[in-house]
Amino acid sequence: MTSSLPDRTALLSARYGGLQTSQSPEALARLAHPTLDTLLAHRSQRNFSAEPLAAGTLETLVAAAQSASTSSNLQCWSVVAVEDAQRKQRLSAIASNQASVRDCPLFLAWVVDLARLGQIGTFSAQEAQGLDYLEAFLVGVVDTALAAQNAAVAAESLGLGINYIGALRNDPEATAAELGLPPRSFALFGMCVGHVAEGGGMDIKPRLPQSAVLHREQYRHDGLQDAVHAYDEVMTGFYSAQAMPGRSSWSAHSLARVRDAKALRGRDVMRAALARLGFELR
Ligand SMILES: Cc1cc2nc3c(=O)[nH]c(=O)nc-3n(C[C@H](O)[C@H](O)[C@H](O)COP(=O)(O)O)c2cc1C
Repeated sequence: MTSSLPDRTALLSARYGGLQTSQSPEALARLAHPTLDTLLAHRSQRNFSAEPLAAGTLETLVAAAQSASTSSNLQCWSVVAVEDAQRKQRLSAIASNQASVRDCPLFLAWVVDLARLGQIGTFSAQEAQGLDYLEAFLVGVVDTALAAQNAAVAAESLGLGINYIGALRNDPEATAAELGLPPRSFALFGMCVGHVAEGGGMDIKPRLPQSAVLHREQYRHDGLQDAVHAYDEVMTGFYSAQAMPGRSSWSAHSLARVRDAKALRGRDVMRAALARLGFELR
């Protein structure tokens, strides 16, 4: 992918759907770097070919993941690499039958892992009561996400496609059983990794204008409606270009995802599921 990246201006234009960014052409040229181009070129990929990954890819991605910052160096995460076709099929069934889970050559389940530190406490005959607090869970979630995103960027820098799969949380306990997870561990999300199928590549999905997310010195409360209105127009064009029927606007779609408990599609019972997985969250 690195060899065929469009130029920086085109990447930024796609990222903001042609809306104005605050960066001057001179700044864009001065701040150029291939890593930045890889980041700007991200798009989730959902169509994977059967082409196997080069030997050593998994270990390289894990080394990139382990290079992420981690709270107090506690490293409260693990990753389960799934390549077995039948296991991918069962995980796909948990994840609303998403075909990409089945079709990708490598499926990574990113796991919040407080079990390892608990185990170290046991074999060191030391208390580890802090693991029962919500703070420890947050540490694990943050560490897991940072590690996964490093792996995602690493994969994309190698020309591979990735797609996060939050739908593993449709049934955290079934996922835990499928992956053989110990108590006090939780598959936060999955990630499909693979070569993008010929002609199956996705486009860059525009994001909110920077005016809606970038606050200088203090949170700014004005201007949001204008920014969202402009973004809704961009996204309505994007949805129709991508043939995503039924999506009227970004704000309508996003609000529908948070309207009520039912909109969480079964994930409104997460706290109880986490308790059954051994997280006290005090
Ligand atoms: C934690 C997380 C979970 C996600 N879960 C899914 C999923 O289950 N299925 C899917 O197709 N995409 C999933 N996505 C991808 C998002 O839909 C995607 O990142 C978002 O729409 C922006 O599109 P882009 O990644 O192409 O820029 C997930 C992304 C994240 C960060």
